[in-house]
Parts: sequence; C-alpha cells; structure tokens
Amino acid sequence: MRINRYLAGMNKAYLFAEIANKVADYVKEQPPREIIRLGIGDVTRPLTPHVAQAFADSALKMGTPEGFHGYPPYEGYDFLLDAIIKNEYAPLGVTLGRDEIFVSDGAKSDTGNIQELLSADAKIAVTDPVYPVYVDSNAMVGRLGGKTEGGYERLTTLPCTAENGFMPALPENAPDAVYLCSPNNPTGTAFTYAQLKTIVDWAKAHGTLIIYDSAYKAYITEKDVPHSIFEIEGARDCAVECCSFSKNAGFTGVRCAYTVIPRELSAELDGRLVRLNDLWRRRSESRSNGVSFPVQCAAAASLDEIGRRETQGLVNGYLANARVIREGLTKAGIACYGGVNSPYVWLKTPGKLSSWEFFDALLRRAQVVGTPGAGFGAAGEGYFRLTAFNSPEKTAEAVERIVKAF
Ligand code: MLT
Repeated sequence: MRINRYLAGMNKAYLFAEIANKVADYVKEQPPREIIRLGIGDVTRPLTPHVAQAFADSALKMGTPEGFHGYPPYEGYDFLLDAIIKNEYAPLGVTLGRDEIFVSDGAKSDTGNIQELLSADAKIAVTDPVYPVYVDSNAMVGRLGGKTEGGYERLTTLPCTAENGFMPALPENAPDAVYLCSPNNPTGTAFTYAQLKTIVDWAKAHGTLIIYDSAYKAYITEKDVPHSIFEIEGARDCAVECCSFSKNAGFTGVRCAYTVIPRELSAELDGRLVRLNDLWRRRSESRSNGVSFPVQCAAAASLDEIGRRETQGLVNGYLANARVIREGLTKAGIACYGGVNSPYVWLKTPGKLSSWEFFDALLRRAQVVGTPGAGFGAAGEGYFRLTAFNSPEKTAEAVERIVKAF
C-alpha cells in the first residue's frame, strides 16, 4: 500500500483542534476560575424561534406520507435557491439563475473542495494570515509541494498586515487561483468596493480564479464594503463565491451553505472552453449527498422577512460584543483591527510576545482562550484573534480580565 505522503506530512492537528487540546490540558490543572472561550468562531446563541419552528415542522413532515422527502437534489431545493436569489442577491442588484447556486453543508467544505476544479499543478496564492482550510486542502493533495520554513514550496503568500492596510500586493506572476475572504477571517477587516475592483481587474487580466469566501457578509456595517464579489463588474468572469448560514443564522450545528459559480466562468482545456459550473455540478453529483430537507427549510426560513429580522438580531448582538472587545482593548493601549464588519477582532500582542506566548499567557493569567495569529500564517505572528461569539456578559468579563492581566 502506498499512502498520501502529503497528508502524512501535515501538522499533527488542525489549528482549532490543537487549541482545543491545549485548553483541555489546562483544564486538567484545575484553573482558578471559569475559562472564557473567544477562540474558535463557533456561534453561541440559539436558532431563532422562526427558524427553529420551520426546522421542526419540516422534520415532522418527513414523518408523513405526503411530506416525506428522499434524496435531496444535488444542487439544493428550488425553494431555497429562489430564497437566496431573492433575498441575498436581488437587493444588491445581482441577478443569478438557480443553476448558478450549489447548496452544501458548509463553506469550510466548499472552500476545501473547490480546489478539485483546478489542475494538479495549478499555482495557488493565499493571503497571509489565512483561514487554514484553503492551504491545508491544497497541501493535502500535493499541489503545494514540500514544506518550507513557514510555508510551502509552491504556495504564493500575499501578506496582509496593518502596514499595508490589509490589502495584498497583487503579484505580476499571477497564480491560477487566489483565495480571498472578506470580511476576513482572521483579521476581521474587509475589502472596499474600490479594493475589490482592483483585485477583480487583476484577476481578469491574468486569467486567475478568485475563490471568494463570503461567510461573514452578514456582519458588514460600512457602506463602502460590498456584500458580494458579484457586485463588482467583471467578477462573473473570474470568481466563485462561498457563503454560509453558520455565522448569521447560527447554523454551525445545523450545517447549510452555498457556493455561486457563474455560467460565464470558464477556462480553456485541450483547445475547448470548459465551464467551471459544469465541472462543479459533475463533481457534486458524484461526491455530494446534498443537504437534508429540514435543514434547507430552516435555511429558507432564515431568509424570509421574519427570519431576516430575527437573524439580524443575532448578528447585531455579536457585533455589539465585537465593539466591546475593540473599544475595551484599544482604551487599554492594545492596537486592534477588524470587529466593525466582522465578528473577529485582530490585535497586536502586547509586550512583544509571540502569538503562541500570548495564547499561553492569556490562558494562564486571564483564563481567556483566543487564537494565535501565527496559526493563520507567518504574517500573523505577533497578532492574536478574539471572537465576538460569546454572551455580552462573558465578553465584557473577558475584556476586563485581559486589561487587568496585561
Ligand atoms: C474559525 O474559528 O475560524 C471558524 O470557526 C472556522 C470555521 O468556521 O470553520
């Protein structure tokens, strides 16, 4: 048997699993008070009543002869595709067809799987820091080659730091695909219309595919930040967009997401034009089980008038927490970024501590869990991420503890 050397060569654990292990070890030492978790971006507030009701009603329907549903359509039920088109895109002036949307179980799965559209030797670029899934999914299939100090032989990293305003310099030697996340995980910053236009123009000029992760779009509060890359002229020719119900409707334990692949998006192969939409459909038919009827009913309910109102309440609650973190730490002299269009606050570690040193110090001195910036890439060293996904009380207490401890 010959096994996958690239998979075998990965770090022992996924970033958030590594953090969970470290926290579990510390819990065994019986910390002096309750640990407050502002690490992984997992929501904490329950599904809204309207969404939970739709979920329950549709689950009960499955127990009746007339309401039973077997295999779901590979790309999603029409009622959910229509709700996405009407409520998520039409208000932005973006027109989509049902056949351009693919419903799935998560933006993590979609951003991890989307690399299957690319050739085995495609050149990949990611921003740095970066959501680790983009890198790991390419590394595991060997596309990035061997590891180097802090990276991979065949991976282009585009640093996004406070110094460049979190806008990457776009390389002349363009990759086949670039992963972008806006609002960004982990930095919490977001591209403006003008910045995204620059990137779309560059991608079109170089034939680069933009894999645009928009899982946090519900958190956008500023007017000059687009909610979809398809608001930008030309994006239909060069971008796919991955969205999720996890962070707005609280679906991290329910699982529903979708990816948009425009019909125009195509590439030349052996002298003919191949549409990425066709490729992804073909791939989904073989690889995906679809998403269950009750989950899609719950997702659609989150998009109707009542659902949107309730869901906005969840998002506003987390945004208020983000403000508490940002303002509390800034007042204490800690440089903070993000948290305005995002549930994440990205801070400079105080006292020149490395990201992981600060992680340990924070855990032991304040019993607060966060995520070390270095876990997201070399340019994340010296930074740290806190999430707003906790209760207002615990968030305020965490800020108090951090300010006291540092
Ligand atoms: C995070 O903490 O970065 C998120 O939980 C990742 C995810 O949603 O998969």
